[in-house]
Amino acid sequence: MYSRIIGTGSYLPEKVLTNHDLEKMVDTSDEWIRTRTGISQRHIAADGQLASDLAVNASHRALENANLKADEIDLIIVATTTPDMVFPSTACILQNKLGIKQCPAFDVQAVCSGFVYALATADAFIRTGKYRNALVVGSEIYSNIVDWKDRSTCVLFGDGAGAVILTQSDQPGILSSHLHADGNFSDVLAVPGSICDGKVQGSPFVNMEGNTVFKFAVKVLEEVAIEAIEENNLQTTDIDWLIPHQANIRIIRSTAKKLGIPMEKVVTTVDKHGNTSAASIPLALDIAARDGRVQSDQYVLLEGVGGGFTWGAALLRW
Ligand code: ACO
Repeated sequence: MYSRIIGTGSYLPEKVLTNHDLEKMVDTSDEWIRTRTGISQRHIAADGQLASDLAVNASHRALENANLKADEIDLIIVATTTPDMVFPSTACILQNKLGIKQCPAFDVQAVCSGFVYALATADAFIRTGKYRNALVVGSEIYSNIVDWKDRSTCVLFGDGAGAVILTQSDQPGILSSHLHADGNFSDVLAVPGSICDGKVQGSPFVNMEGNTVFKFAVKVLEEVAIEAIEENNLQTTDIDWLIPHQANIRIIRSTAKKLGIPMEKVVTTVDKHGNTSAASIPLALDIAARDGRVQSDQYVLLEGVGGGFTWGAALLRW
């Protein structure tokens, strides 16, 4: 018993915030942002638009792409760091918005690695034979947790959602997944706030040691890619598409270089939407699947790293 992706979908909110728009908000420049991060624009959710709203749009597109009806879904997992509310989970809210009854629904919180964690979890559930069709979504509204006066972080992030439909299969789709975490680094990248006594205690904004994150990301993205490739007795040259977390083009380029994977085989979308955390991998996957780059039987390596630190990879046969 295996699981296989049979549909993908994504959604970006209408409003676009360009680097030139940011020049009017903080002391930055289009040139600085593009050369340091590769980002030229990001999408920003409308007032009142929640992670579940972005997720609904991405989910409908994935369901249509998979040729499935919502009521055929029997498991929902949402990866998000920016849930609609403290509880219920965004997955439960999404379930209700999709009109699905009774199936298990829960959130996974692994920050930018969230989608890989959620995919690995859904894969494990499907392999038990108890669940047939899982909806796995990454959905984020980072514009709510970014300090728009802090130029060192606000230029990096954006809002969006990506979704996949994972179904039971006798042919392997997900070959293996590899998850890791090291809580020693919890201070390096965090939103160090909580709700207590009706107030936010600490800070409600993203706080980051950029250089430490950069070095750690490149190191573990190389390691976990090799772990996945070796476990499947493959070589890096067998990988048809590397789809890494879309945080920063320099992290992506350095990782690809260390792995010896040419950039022609790396899917990059970070320029168009910035770092959308748990949404970035399914967003990039959807774009590459729909434009025909990702083809049947190819090896596709998804990998992510994020706050925690958490990191992980999933190797797929498409
Ligand atoms: N515009 C203009 N100048 C800026 C900006 C900005 N938006 N932000 C910082 N600077 C300045 C700094 O103040 C500093 O000025 P100084 O030299 O006068 O002190 C100068 O630029 C250089 O700052 P650095 O932090 O050294 O710049 P660096 O080249 O390291 O780039 C960056 C910073 C882009 C954040 C980089 O460290 C990085 O990409 N880190 C990874 C972070 C990341 O991707 N996080 C996303 C979340 S984690 C994840 O998804 C994996």
